[in-house]
Amino acid sequence: MSVLKITGGCSLSGSLRVQGAKNSVLPLLAASVLTEGLSVFRNCPRLSDAEATVRILRHVGCRVYGEGDALYVDASGPIRPEVPDALMRQMRSSVIFLGALLSRCGEVSLSLPGGCELGPRPVDLHLLALRSLGAEVIEAGDRICCRAGALKGGRIDLPFASVGATENAMLAAVRAAGSTVISGAAREPEIRDLQDYLRACGALVSGAGSGTIRIVGVEKLRGAEKRILPDRIAAATWLAACASAGGRIRLYDACPAHMLPVLRALERMGCAVKTGENLIVLERTGPLKSPGPIITRPHPGFPTDAQPPLMAAALRARGTTVMIETVFENRFRHVPALRSMGADIRTAGRTAIIRGVEGLHGAEVRASDLRGGAALAVAALGAEGETLLRGMEHVERGYEDMAGALTALGADARLCEEE
Ligand code: UD1
Repeated sequence: MSVLKITGGCSLSGSLRVQGAKNSVLPLLAASVLTEGLSVFRNCPRLSDAEATVRILRHVGCRVYGEGDALYVDASGPIRPEVPDALMRQMRSSVIFLGALLSRCGEVSLSLPGGCELGPRPVDLHLLALRSLGAEVIEAGDRICCRAGALKGGRIDLPFASVGATENAMLAAVRAAGSTVISGAAREPEIRDLQDYLRACGALVSGAGSGTIRIVGVEKLRGAEKRILPDRIAAATWLAACASAGGRIRLYDACPAHMLPVLRALERMGCAVKTGENLIVLERTGPLKSPGPIITRPHPGFPTDAQPPLMAAALRARGTTVMIETVFENRFRHVPALRSMGADIRTAGRTAIIRGVEGLHGAEVRASDLRGGAALAVAALGAEGETLLRGMEHVERGYEDMAGALTALGADARLCEEE
C-alpha cells in the first residue's frame, strides 16, 4: 500500500502543468462508444478512474490503446450492451455508460453502485432523462436494464442540475430520432467539453454551458479528436496547497475562467492571484484571513469538489470560516483527520465552522475519499513536522502523481510503499 509522506512547514515555489480534467475524460471516453470509428483523446490524465473506464470500454468491445498522454478508442466493431458488476464497482461515474450503451445498442444492462463516501448517490435523474426519450427501465436489485428499440427525442426537465444526468441525457439524445430539449441542465465546463467532442463526431448539439441544451438526433456519429480541458479541481488543490504552505507558485495549461469562485475566495484570504492566458500565479506571503462564508453550488457557483482543499487552507486563517455543503450529503469525512492535525472544526449537518488556529502538526491520517485525501495533503503542507497520508488509492482516482506534482512545487513529499 502506498503512503504519501509530507514534511510540512516550508513554503512552496515552483511551476506546474495542470493535468487534464478527470471529470471530462471519463464521460468523453464513455461517449466514444457512440461513434462507429476511431477517436483520439489528448491530454489524458493517468488516473485509476481513467484506467477503470478503459477496462469497461475493452469489455464492451472497443479497442483502446495509449501513446504518451493520448488514448485511442476504436469503437467501430460490434458493441456489447452489458457491463459486469465487478467493472461497474471500480468507479462511481461508470453510470455514464447507461446513456452511451443504450444509445449505441438500443439496450443496456449494468449494475449501479449504491451509497458511497459522499452519501447516497441516487440515479433517479439519470433514469428520468432516459425515460423521457422513450426508454423502458427495469430495476432489479442493483441491476438496471434499459430498452428502447429506437430512442425518440423529447423534453427532459431536470429538477436538479446533475452533471452525470445531463451527460447521460446528451448521450442518449444525440442519436435519438427528432429533437430533444434538456432544461435545468448542469452548466459545468466539462459539459461543454462533451458537447465539443460530440459536435466533432457529427452530432447536432448546442447550448452546453447554459441551462438549456438543444439536440437534433443524427443516425450515425464518426470518431473524432479531442483535447481534454484542464482540471479545475486539481488546479484549485495546488492553489490551496500554496495558500496553506505560503510561497509563490505558477500553474500553466490552466483555465482561470473556469474557477473564478475559487480564485476570489483565495484572494479574500489574502493571497495575490494573477491570471493570464492558460496561466495562474498565486503568492501568499502574509498571514491568511478567513474568506468569509463558502457555500457550494453547481457551476458557476463554488464547486463542491474544491470545498475540502479550501477548508484545509482555511485551518490557520484568522477568524472563523463557515462552509455550507449543498451538493452532497456527506462531504466532511476528512474533518476528524484534520482535527487530529490540530484543526478546530465543528460540524452540524451540512455546515462546518472552522476557527483559525495558530499552528497545525503532522499526524498519521487516512484519506476517506478523493477530495478529502487532497485536503489532508494541503493541511500537511502547512503543518509542522511529518504527515503520513494513507488511503492513497482514493487520491489516485483523481490526481496524476500527487507526490511528483507537490515536489515540482517545492514541497517535501514522497510516495513510499508500506507492507
Ligand atoms: C460529478 C463529478 C463530481 C462532482 C459532482 C458535482 C464526474 C465524474 N463527477 O458527479 O466530481 O462532485 O459532479 O459537481 O463528473 N443526484 C440525485 N439524483 C440523480 C443524480 C444526482 O439526487 O439521479 C444528486 C446527487 O446525489 C448529489 C447531487 O445530485 O447530491 C449532485 O450530483 P451530480 O451532479 O449528479 O454529480 P455526479 O455527476 O455524480
